[in-house]
Amino acid sequence: MSIAESIVQVQAQIRAAEAASGRAPNSATLIAVSKTKPVSDIQQAVDAGQICFGENYAQEFRDKAKELEGVQVGGQGLDWHFIGSLQRNKVKYVVNRASLIHSVDSQRLGQAISDRANGRQGVLVSVNMGGEGTKSGIPIDQALELCKELTLMPGLDLRGLMCIPPPEPGRWFEDLAELAAEGQRQGLPLTELSMGMSADFEQAIALGARWVRVGSRLFGARG
Ligand SMILES: Cc1ncc(COP(=O)(O)O)c(C=O)c1O
Repeated sequence: MSIAESIVQVQAQIRAAEAASGRAPNSATLIAVSKTKPVSDIQQAVDAGQICFGENYAQEFRDKAKELEGVQVGGQGLDWHFIGSLQRNKVKYVVNRASLIHSVDSQRLGQAISDRANGRQGVLVSVNMGGEGTKSGIPIDQALELCKELTLMPGLDLRGLMCIPPPEPGRWFEDLAELAAEGQRQGLPLTELSMGMSADFEQAIALGARWVRVGSRLFGARG
């Protein structure tokens, strides 16, 4: 199947998953994860109408966003998301270019982003749901405290939570949704959940995902 056909098929599955759980059409958005893939692959996705792209590596993000700067879909420029773990010394490549940085996991990273933001940079807090040492993200029991600190930073627009869960994601998706709900009860602006990848995006939509991040299903396996 071509990249264009995969985009059309996954978009249709997302619309069906929204409908199946009584959600409004387009309340979940596909982020096409193009990390390590060439710009020509992104162009094929664009030709199929895809606007939203996600990248994991700061310099690669900067280079691709620059190269595709003038590209439009239906009169709209591409919408870039940064979804990888981010080091503070690489914040400069990402801030003000990404509409949303999904991966803030420390007060110091949040501060570095805030300091460089021209306006208010959209951010999510990434949560290490399973406490896995190999993955970035803040531990679940510290996440809301970090969110509170981030809301005090003038250059940040905190919008929600992101997770990369361990295998068997369903339970973790539910836990992330519950954590965001608890944050909202405490007055935090956690309305957006970024969860679900190639294998489980429909399940994530049923459990409230605002953003699904799909890579290999669209672009094939990464080398
Ligand atoms: C943070 C993040 N989200 C989503 C994806 C996409 O995963 P998949 O290829 O399983 O769709 C990746 C891929 O590495 C990722 O790092």
